[in-house]
Amino acid sequence: MATIIDGKALAAKCKEEIRQQVSALQRRPGLAVILVGSDPASRVYVTNKEKDCAQCGIYSEEFALPAEVGQRALLELIDELNRREEIDGILVQLPLPRGYDYDEQEVLLSIDPRKDVDAFHPFNVGQIMIGNYTFLPCTPAGVMRMLDEYGINPKGKHCVVVGRSNIVGKPQAMLLLHRHATVTICHSRTQDLGTITRQADILVSAVGKRNLITADMVKEGAVVIDVAMNRDESGKLCGDVDFGPVSAKASYITPVPGGCGPMTRVMLLYNTLAAARLHGKS
Ligand code: GUN
Repeated sequence: MATIIDGKALAAKCKEEIRQQVSALQRRPGLAVILVGSDPASRVYVTNKEKDCAQCGIYSEEFALPAEVGQRALLELIDELNRREEIDGILVQLPLPRGYDYDEQEVLLSIDPRKDVDAFHPFNVGQIMIGNYTFLPCTPAGVMRMLDEYGINPKGKHCVVVGRSNIVGKPQAMLLLHRHATVTICHSRTQDLGTITRQADILVSAVGKRNLITADMVKEGAVVIDVAMNRDESGKLCGDVDFGPVSAKASYITPVPGGCGPMTRVMLLYNTLAAARLHGKS
């Protein structure tokens, strides 16, 4: 029976550490959170991020814009925030509303890379590729922090990442590679997924498909990290992993909720603190 990796408890510990570091600063870090449109899930994420900031003494300012505000007004707001001194980090909640002509890449490019606490700007993506971390990619960094906390060293291990998104899959593979893992990335066109996932010492699933990872796809004793956030037919949160049967086979497993989600949120706070330091706040 697997040990459950308690992301919620670890996040609480990290937040306390962040709160202490923030309280030692003369000037508090500031985060601007931009939400365009009214997607209910995005609304919840943004509210949670603001709550986290408040708990840690980080100033946050929300900019809730109607979906029809348009690309130009959004770029103007980012330009203003790029220049505001009390704002250290800028986060544009994704996805931008569909059915309008938003250009997500142009939006991400317009954020000052020194304020890019999501690490989505191509400059920071490049830095991650090189292994020169100013800002950590939040979800993958949260996963790494959980592995470290539980004494799981990826060095020399076969790590299989299922999912190739810019936000999770690709940067996750990089972080594991930098820790000397042998990494395989699988995706929707991968043939015979189970043959590959069964080879994983550490399996990270970041797809968004309930019960994608079943027990027969997992090696006995594997570490299973479930990054996904899905809802079952009764609206309950669940991940990609068929939790019950897989946890009977795995050595460690993250639950959904209470695994990767809280750790992702914490990494944003670390990045905001790092941004404040980058801007000379001490
Ligand atoms: N949408 C889903 N995950 C994220 C994230 O980590 N950051 C932002 N800005 N949007 C998201």
